[in-house]
Amino acid sequence: MMKPIIKAAACILLTLSFGAQVYAADGGNPKKGKHLYKKECKACHSPGAVGKEMTPMSKTMSQWDRFFKRMKHKGDQEAFNAFSDKDLKDIQQFLYDHAADSDQPQTCG
Ligand code: HEC
Repeated sequence: MMKPIIKAAACILLTLSFGAQVYAADGGNPKKGKHLYKKECKACHSPGAVGKEMTPMSKTMSQWDRFFKRMKHKGDQEAFNAFSDKDLKDIQQFLYDHAADSDQPQTCG
C-alpha cells in the first residue's frame, strides 16, 4: 500500500529539483555555451567523428530541453557528468536558441 505513494512522491521531488536546475532553457549564457559546444562537443560531434555530426539544428527546442532534462548521453555519460550545471545550462541555451524550429536555426557552432 505504501510503496506507490512513496514512488509518486519521489517522482514529484525529482521533477521539481530537475526543473529548478534546467528549466526550459532560460537564463543560460548562449555565447559561453557556443564556446563550450565548439570546444567540448564538436570534438566528438563532427562528420566522421565518433559521435557523428550534431548541430543545434539536429533537434527542436523541446527536444533539446528534454535531452538536457534527462541528461542521458548515449555516447559518453562520464564526459557529460564532468560539466558543471552552469556549463550545461549555457550549452543548452546555445543549442536551444538555434534549434531547428527556433528563430535563428544554425547549422554549425
Ligand atoms: C567523448 C566523445 C563525446 C563528447 C565529448 C560528446 N559526445 Fe555526444 N555522443 C557521443 C557518441 C559516441 C554518441 C552516440 C552516437 C550514436 O548514436 O551512435 C553521442 C550522442 C549524442 C547525442 C544524441 C543522443 C540522443 O539521444 O539523441 C546528443 C544530443 C549528444 N551526443 C550531445 C552532446 C553534447 C551537447 C555534447 C557537449 C556537451 C556532447 N554530446 C559531447 C560522443 C560524445
